[in-house]
Amino acid sequence: MELKGKRIALGITGGIAAYKAAELVRLLIKQGASVQVAMTDAAMRFVTPLTFQALTGRHVFTDPWDVQSGNGMAHINLSRESDLLLIAPASADTLAKIAHGIADTLLTTLTLARNCPLLVAPAMNREMWGNPATQRNIATLRADGVGILGPASGEQACGEIGEGRMLEPEDILEAVIAHFQPKRLAGRKVLLTAGPTFEALDPVRGITNLSSGKMGFAIARAARDAGAEVTLVCGPVSQPTPSGITRVDVTSAQDMYQAVMQRIGAQDVFIGVAAVADYRPAAAAEHKIKKEDGAPPTITLVRTPDILAEVAALPAAPLCVGFAAESRNLAEYAERKRRSKKIPLIVGNLIQDGFGGDSNAVTLFDDRGETPLPPGSKIELARALVERIALLLGNA
Ligand code: C5P
Repeated sequence: MELKGKRIALGITGGIAAYKAAELVRLLIKQGASVQVAMTDAAMRFVTPLTFQALTGRHVFTDPWDVQSGNGMAHINLSRESDLLLIAPASADTLAKIAHGIADTLLTTLTLARNCPLLVAPAMNREMWGNPATQRNIATLRADGVGILGPASGEQACGEIGEGRMLEPEDILEAVIAHFQPKRLAGRKVLLTAGPTFEALDPVRGITNLSSGKMGFAIARAARDAGAEVTLVCGPVSQPTPSGITRVDVTSAQDMYQAVMQRIGAQDVFIGVAAVADYRPAAAAEHKIKKEDGAPPTITLVRTPDILAEVAALPAAPLCVGFAAESRNLAEYAERKRRSKKIPLIVGNLIQDGFGGDSNAVTLFDDRGETPLPPGSKIELARALVERIALLLGNA
């Protein structure tokens, strides 16, 4: 429930993507938001107010002369009762109007009269999007502090391919959630590792582990939402890249070490979330190892670099945060790890609580001692961790 108690006014304008607004409403409500819809006449050519009335349980405002609103001032009331005005899809026409302060529909009047932040998700044909007039309007809106979500690139309703598609409802939801997060890491650079590593034995086999990368990706999102510039170095995982994050894909611990060391100089924070292999085969066979009679082959293992310890030992080390996934004696092992790697903060969890799933139970270990966080989803824990990191940076 990442939008619990948030009141969102959703403006829908005329574009084929209007049908996706229904799904967006459902997602917003599922996260705990209350949604009040206002539609333009053009929007009603594509979808009906009835759909949105049924989904939100509220009267849908369409007409600036609507008398449903107690004092007849829906355009004022709707924004005063909202924490955010979101326009999705936002047509080229509506964007042009709001960039110039035109107020000729309920939605544009409401936009002009608002006293809450505005996010827009443009949706239009690629030529309309690329037109200098639209680009000027977008620049004006940006300069006015309006958040522009997307647009995405891809296949368009008209059959053309290019920039101008509305972001998918899930992506808009993520941007709305991000909007409400305190910007505790504004101006900070955060580098994380996530996922497993894969240490090759031959061209098709190797040593790896069951880390899904979910916790690292959740922390990357939380740091981004807190305003940080985020780089995520990840081993082989099947997680989609969160928008606005620089992702570097690697395979082995050695690759991960190099990718981190190349970028670490510019960072304020390093978070080692990856489950890095401690050992790798001394050599990887050039060809597939064949099954043969006689004694099975032996594998000689050698140590991999300890990325976190190496980063923490740098002369100008960023603030370092480590993870300790243990199957027992969590407090003892986590604290020992924190001291041996000389890092200020370790996040400990029992493997049985965290691996692969969407939720986790973690305890923070720092100079102040042991702080168990309330069990929650990985994203909730990630936000709590980011808050603690901001505190350590003196940014809270
Ligand atoms: O060394 P150990 O696995 O006990 O500690 C785990 C922490 O160290 C995690 O934060 C992990 O990302 C990091 N680590 C690392 N490089 C390694 C091994 C662990 O960065 N080779």
